[in-house]
Amino acid sequence: MRTTVGIIGAGPAGLLLARLLHNAGIDSVVLESRDRAYVERRQRAGILEQGTVDVLRAAGAGERMDREGLRHDGIELRFDRRRHRVDFPALTGGKSVMVYAQTEVCKDLIALQLKEGGPLLFEAEALAVEGADTDHPRVRFRHEGAEDVLECDYVVGCDGFWGVARQAIPAGLSRTFERTYPFGWLGILADVAPSHDELVYARHDRGFALLSMRSPSVSRLYLQVPADTDAESWSDEEIWAELERRFETADDWTLRRGPITQKSVTPMRSYVHEPMRHGRLFLAGDAAHIVPPTGAKGLNLAVGDVVTFARALTHREETGSDGLLDAYSATCLRRVWQAERFSYDMTTMLHRAPDATPFDDRIQLARLDRLASSRAAETDLAEGYTGFPVG
Ligand code: APR
Ligand code: PHB
Repeated sequence: MRTTVGIIGAGPAGLLLARLLHNAGIDSVVLESRDRAYVERRQRAGILEQGTVDVLRAAGAGERMDREGLRHDGIELRFDRRRHRVDFPALTGGKSVMVYAQTEVCKDLIALQLKEGGPLLFEAEALAVEGADTDHPRVRFRHEGAEDVLECDYVVGCDGFWGVARQAIPAGLSRTFERTYPFGWLGILADVAPSHDELVYARHDRGFALLSMRSPSVSRLYLQVPADTDAESWSDEEIWAELERRFETADDWTLRRGPITQKSVTPMRSYVHEPMRHGRLFLAGDAAHIVPPTGAKGLNLAVGDVVTFARALTHREETGSDGLLDAYSATCLRRVWQAERFSYDMTTMLHRAPDATPFDDRIQLARLDRLASSRAAETDLAEGYTGFPVG
């Protein structure tokens, strides 16, 4: 098998890249180790930055998003039983975000790819990337019980944190930067209308809580829990009672309860691999970097990476210049580190570390009080939340 761009992984990064290349007249093959149903069921965050919305629309993948997605013009911060709304358009010159689940983005991109795009092989596991520093990189993979080789001009590793692409970069050329957090998120889906029309990020002495949603009739809620928590050790009643405590306000706001249809625990980690390119191998999305979910930057970062790659390769096809491909890693990393900083700030401002001291608590409250009283501080959060520019 031969193609111009071999793409490993059919998460949002790999799927959107295949679509962008198709639209630019560049052929690709996508290899995905899981089956289609698995990829379409995986629960992930659901906030699309303004720039991500614009990219999906321009790529011809925004039709259902525009019909079913919910435009959000702000979030609420909750602390000390107080409520403070951050108004995005007012602070950013008109930007907002879209609530539309990552699984839905993936479903839309898979349908488009199978209908109009190049090959997308499910249950095709990449085993290794070879010859990354030559003109003829290859992906060895296993599909339907047999081993095969995909010959490429370029390989893009969109295979997530546990993928194989990153391993093809010699250890001596790699640097990694990492932080793990001593807590995770217990996330639930519940068949009940969201108790607020915008997302609520709550800081509480018992730990962080987040109110999000998937649709006007489905709520997505999270509780900070110790890192090694088993989701099944929390009964539905315990989850609702704890959410109620952490979202408590001084006014008459109430939390609506409903049947819980899904429960799981997400670990929290910050991770960056530098560089994001080695020869003709490029890393994009979770293959190169992880952010903790506070602020929902993961998908949006992946989108920025593949837009940068598609732009760089198109530039090369049109002008013969490798300039933008050579700049790929530095271009992406600048934005990646801004998102890392933003996600780290949100995480440390809102979560209670197990060893937090009363001093730490007061500093968190002072940071939140500053946000609630300074337009400059609030603007910084609004700019970060609605997204940093690509490129
Ligand atoms: N061969 C083929 N496919 C693989 C391999 C392999 N060896 N290893 C992993 N994959 C696939 C996974 O099954 C998955 O479908 O690569 C895909 C990677 O997708 P994601 O993990 O969704 O990563 P990415 O596309 O970079 O999207 C980033 O995902 O983790 C969330 O919060 C994160 O929203 C962000 C988004
Ligand atoms: C989600 O809806 O899953 C979500 C929303 C906002 C976040 C993280 C997750 O910051």
